Amino acid sequence: MNIPEITAAEAASLIQHGDLLAVGGFGPAGSPKVITPALAQRARKEHEAGRPFKVSVVTGASIGASCDGELAKAEAVDRRLPFSVNADMRRAYNQGEVRYNDLNLSDNASHLRQGLTGRVSWGIVEACDVQEVQGKVRLYLTAGIGIAPTICRMAEKGVFVELNAWHSSKIIGMHDIYEIEDPWFRAPIRITHPIEIIGLPYIEVSPDRIIGIVHTNLPDEARTMNQGSAETDQIGQHMADFLVWNMKQGYMASHKLILQSGVGSGANAVMGALGRCKEVPNFQIYTEVLQEEAMRLIAEGRVVAASTGALTLSPERLQDLYANINDYRGRLLIRPSEISNCPEIIARLGICSLNTAVEVDIYGHVNSTKVGGTYMMNGVGGSCDFTCNSMLATFTCCSTAKEGRISSIVPFCSHVDHTEHYVDAIVTEYGVADLRNKSALERAEALIAIAHPDYRPILREYMRLASKRGGHTHHLLTAAFALHDTYRRKGDMRLVDWGEYIY
Ligand code: COA
Repeated sequence: MNIPEITAAEAASLIQHGDLLAVGGFGPAGSPKVITPALAQRARKEHEAGRPFKVSVVTGASIGASCDGELAKAEAVDRRLPFSVNADMRRAYNQGEVRYNDLNLSDNASHLRQGLTGRVSWGIVEACDVQEVQGKVRLYLTAGIGIAPTICRMAEKGVFVELNAWHSSKIIGMHDIYEIEDPWFRAPIRITHPIEIIGLPYIEVSPDRIIGIVHTNLPDEARTMNQGSAETDQIGQHMADFLVWNMKQGYMASHKLILQSGVGSGANAVMGALGRCKEVPNFQIYTEVLQEEAMRLIAEGRVVAASTGALTLSPERLQDLYANINDYRGRLLIRPSEISNCPEIIARLGICSLNTAVEVDIYGHVNSTKVGGTYMMNGVGGSCDFTCNSMLATFTCCSTAKEGRISSIVPFCSHVDHTEHYVDAIVTEYGVADLRNKSALERAEALIAIAHPDYRPILREYMRLASKRGGHTHHLLTAAFALHDTYRRKGDMRLVDWGEYIY
């Protein structure tokens, strides 16, 4: 093959201040791992020499610490999109050091194609194999795809490939790579079942677009999940009961259950609890991220087929998958993020989405991203893509956070990611608030009923006071954020004194 082998430092030396890097992978899965640390080192040297050095970074979703963590610590990032879960990056964008664009993941590749993100300078993708066939290079990706197909086509200065020997080439054949056509009047994306194949198992690139191959041998950088708790088990059981009830009512077909599951420890634990519940029939998954519990359910046959944007698994679990890959062929597919999160497909499949809320208000608006309305946690990720387009859009959360000092159900969300018009049901450890076919005041009743018992009287008192003003949704705007303000001032929402807020 006529492609030069280069080192990570050589690749980093080509990248210039002001460049836009587009990086493959989805979350830590399948993301490149050595060029960005070398770039961070270069940025430090440039800074020491008194020269500015910052790049902008667009990825499929979040990414491993070797990208977000290293670059944030080196103060080498100007703009960042569309999603991040890294603590160093979080600190940087909350301190205003990084211009963070929190974007729906389904929009990411099309924003690149439209030119909204800016001109892509370099692409960096991870592969498990690179083959030259009839004058073209075929890149076989690893545990996640993200925006890699779009990157490889659009990067103006070229593409770096990290060829990672840690990932087994046995994963070849598990990817379905398809790039959405531009609007207007584009053809339908013909996925009618979660594991229907519409694309190729590789990305095809012209050899002259590949600047060099960097050899690596490193596992993905998946975060360790918190173990499930009694609360997440109860949430899982309530969710299971709710799904079964929907099937009995004829609202959902029992033999066609297709679930999406969100990111984080809470979502992981709820998926596990759901799988253990015998009344829930075997199901399929169409999602952006497969975490540990979902993978366990696939291995057990509880999940019969799964399409995902990424395998976000511990190194041991991923190696186990590679060792037994033939058990998964025909049951598991990895897709680019614009397909895993595609509104058209989510709507067509009739998905039930399970995402996690930071807080929910009494009328059913959901905040997934900003603690206290200001502090960005991770970002909206794909939660909006799924919530807006699912047949049944649900959110789970424990009824309280910070040892009970914060209620997850509040009079008014301090930030809204998902409006009442898209959110169908909320599940806490105290039960399910089914918001469908309910008036605003009925929703408030249903949501207060699943709040923590300490907060139910507090929320009812808010409703009593607010009802004096009348209207369709009862609110007292001077008191709508009283719980947040009380937590800020007194450290516990339960210490709210409504009298301070009514004037
Ligand atoms: N107010 C203040 N803090 C809160 C809170 C609230 N209402 N609710 C949760 N928190 C805090 C927790 O205490 C915890 O703090 P810590 O890190 O100091 O322990 C932190 O937020 C994370 O909570 P946890 O319950 O551990 O979160 P998780 O791992 O289950 O993730 C989300 C929950 C909402 C942060 C995560 O799912 C997310 O980023 N979602 C948005 C993107 C998304 O949904 N993507 C999937 C789409 S397919």
